[in-house]
Amino acid sequence: MDRLQYLGDVKVDISDIQVVEHDVIVLGAGGAGLRAAIECSMRGLSTGLVCKSLLGKAHTVMAEGGVAAALGNVDSRDHWKVHFRDTMRGGKFLNVWRMAELHAKEAPDRVRELEEWGAVFDRTKAGLINQRNFGGHRYPRLAHVGDRTGLEIIRTLQDHGIHQGIDVYMECTGLDFLKDGDKISGMVAMWRETGRFVIFKAKAAIVATGGGGKAWKITSNSWEYTGDGYGMAYEAGAELMDMEFTQFHPTGMVWPPSVRGTLVTESVRGEGGVLLNSDGKRFMFHNIPDRFADETAETEEETVRWLAGDRDARRPPELLTRDVVARAIRKEVKEGRGSPHGGAFLDIASKRTAEDIQRKLPSMYHQFKVLAELDITTEPMEVGPTLHYFMGGIRVDADSQMSRVPGLFACGECAAGMHGANRLGGNSLSDLLVFGKLSGEGAAKYIEGMTSEPMVDDNQIRSIIRDATDILNRESGENPYLLHEEMEDLMQNCVGIVRTEELLMEGIEGLGKLKESYGKVKASGASQFNPGWHEAIALRNLLITSEAVANAALIRQESRGAHTRVDYPGEQNEWLQYNVVLSKGEDGAMKSEKIERPAPNTELDRIANLSIEEIEAEVTAES
Ligand code: FUM
Repeated sequence: MDRLQYLGDVKVDISDIQVVEHDVIVLGAGGAGLRAAIECSMRGLSTGLVCKSLLGKAHTVMAEGGVAAALGNVDSRDHWKVHFRDTMRGGKFLNVWRMAELHAKEAPDRVRELEEWGAVFDRTKAGLINQRNFGGHRYPRLAHVGDRTGLEIIRTLQDHGIHQGIDVYMECTGLDFLKDGDKISGMVAMWRETGRFVIFKAKAAIVATGGGGKAWKITSNSWEYTGDGYGMAYEAGAELMDMEFTQFHPTGMVWPPSVRGTLVTESVRGEGGVLLNSDGKRFMFHNIPDRFADETAETEEETVRWLAGDRDARRPPELLTRDVVARAIRKEVKEGRGSPHGGAFLDIASKRTAEDIQRKLPSMYHQFKVLAELDITTEPMEVGPTLHYFMGGIRVDADSQMSRVPGLFACGECAAGMHGANRLGGNSLSDLLVFGKLSGEGAAKYIEGMTSEPMVDDNQIRSIIRDATDILNRESGENPYLLHEEMEDLMQNCVGIVRTEELLMEGIEGLGKLKESYGKVKASGASQFNPGWHEAIALRNLLITSEAVANAALIRQESRGAHTRVDYPGEQNEWLQYNVVLSKGEDGAMKSEKIERPAPNTELDRIANLSIEEIEAEVTAES
């Protein structure tokens, strides 16, 4: 076969390119990717795990405070039904019902399995896995390892996966998927160090690349989170859903500027930390939404009882869902009651002893000491909202996690549906365990049912390589770093925590111009470790991600969860019937549609709408 082809005036020779073959490739090696790869490997599939960073360097470690699972170790009233109800309420009922059900039912087994694989959780006095409080969770539900839970989970999955025989390809950037007709047949990638290309042939691919926080200026996300999975899946024909729901974690560092956005774990509030404005007032008491009024303490006195372990005391308002707390901090700042650097004060020093703080929150203690020269055992922290997580992502089937592209699966943050309009803290770790496993199962079943091996198409390979090398081969062009900076400003200012039609239109227009400039992007230098080239490649995915978020945000004319439209305040019942779905149209432009949601399963609908007392009575009667 002729393996040479002329595309325009540049010859793309693919005869010498490295080819690797697996049954399944998993793109992204955070918790979701690792759990998916373990499942595939356990089912006898040859599995390649590809990550653009180092193994274990993943946003999973940012979920510091714990993994949510109704184990009932600290409060025996906990049950999957309560976890399910909390998750639906937190997600403002926009969650995919079946995903929320699978998650709540399977999370306890996934946590116990991790323990069997060697994860060392903190213990209760009785020797059980310890659990702590977190926003929106009715009972202490977060199994944790101090404030380093995500790290322990990654370590455990990594050890288990390596011993399982997974092949790991590190510092390798996925460029685009290959297809045989409508089915996945592999992926073209690039070794970051040498700049050489590699072709992965595979029968199925699982995307687990996390979110796209790097589109914003203030974010807890590190350099890897450029929406690669969204961009690549979209280009391959998958749909994106719920992209308007981007979570601003209420507590990121606001000072010093070099670390602005760095996460301050919710466990600080879970351990009793309170939010204060510049008048020294606990402003969250004035920000309790009706939906949570019956579950939230209204007085300082009740929160003291709660902290002392009184099971009848209601949760402090600092533990309301993240969307509510982030908006409340923003309001204090806007109304002139913010902290000196534009945030609020988070005080744990006056609630816990120095010894407790250092034992329960060692990373936070260290982080503030080293980065801000501040001792959190004696002084309050300054915190403010930071872009943390995408509730939206690749639209998948709840049970198999397959997208509408046969053979293309997604799990973890880059898949849509589980969290609806707002995610509860700690549900990210349980999500990645539950759906990582299910996507591995889904891929295995898909491969089992295949009747023929998919073929890779050389012309697709050439075209992908051509797109990537054009960035180097242009004589001159736009600087990728400057384009990225412009995008961060646009997203921060126009598609931020509070949105209006005017701002969104400005954002969409700005993104349109950036897309035009991107057509001329130029990285200077050669292909060997060339960060400018890597930046330019990531920008394509960030642009798709940003465009999807801005378009979806414009379409949804209501405020729900993490999506706040000040020109359309409040939740609108009509909008509960729809998801916003985005895909690549025939003309190559982004197509946005309002898609009707299927009616909820009656039993799940019933459970989600029970009062806590009714669930407790039901669970007691069942046991
Ligand atoms: O605040 C935190 O520890 C983050 C947890 C999460 O995003 O789930």
